[in-house]
Amino acid sequence: PRCLYLSRHGESEWNRSGQLGGDPPLTTRGRIYSIRLAEFMASEFTNKGKDLPLVWTSQLQRTRQTASSIPGMTICWRALNEIDAGMCEGMTYKQIEQTRPDIHEARKRDKLRFRYPGGESYVDVIHRLEPVILEIERTQEPLLIVAHNAIIRSIFAYYYGIEQSKVPHIDIDLHTVYKLTTQAYGCKLEKFSFDV
Ligand code: F6P
Repeated sequence: PRCLYLSRHGESEWNRSGQLGGDPPLTTRGRIYSIRLAEFMASEFTNKGKDLPLVWTSQLQRTRQTASSIPGMTICWRALNEIDAGMCEGMTYKQIEQTRPDIHEARKRDKLRFRYPGGESYVDVIHRLEPVILEIERTQEPLLIVAHNAIIRSIFAYYYGIEQSKVPHIDIDLHTVYKLTTQAYGCKLEKFSFDV
């Protein structure tokens, strides 16, 4: 598409408790973001007489709930699910540091290649996103992707031309829409943050 909108899901129960992964629902703040996001999409499309964009989410409820205020169909991709933290799913960064300092250290040393025991690395995530990227490229219409931290980092880096080693360190804020518009050379970025 000429226009690609990227967003993390709204705040989830586990964002609040600092736990990794899982399939938690949105908090009240997260649900308010869902409404803001739908209003924003209306201001970009419906209010200008244009059709709403295609909406893709992961299969996890926090992204589906975030997109649920936008009218129309959404497509749920398993390949858009958050990085699988394996045995660390449900833990906080602090718990990992205290109970598995080896994991904490190894990840700090090489966050791109570190694979969680029983889970994934960023390199794994980037590979599993390849079919999604192909499908994005084939899509003519504007597209909104509502996914997760590691996923939005990877897709954003691909379009914005950020080298792989930097992907795990990109800041992608909650409650913010990243709008990428392709131009003759490269991409224009606009950021829309919502105070919810
Ligand atoms: O904390 C939210 C979250 O999406 C976790 O589910 C995930 O493990 C993490 O962010 C990914 O970010 P990082 O790679 O910086 O730990």
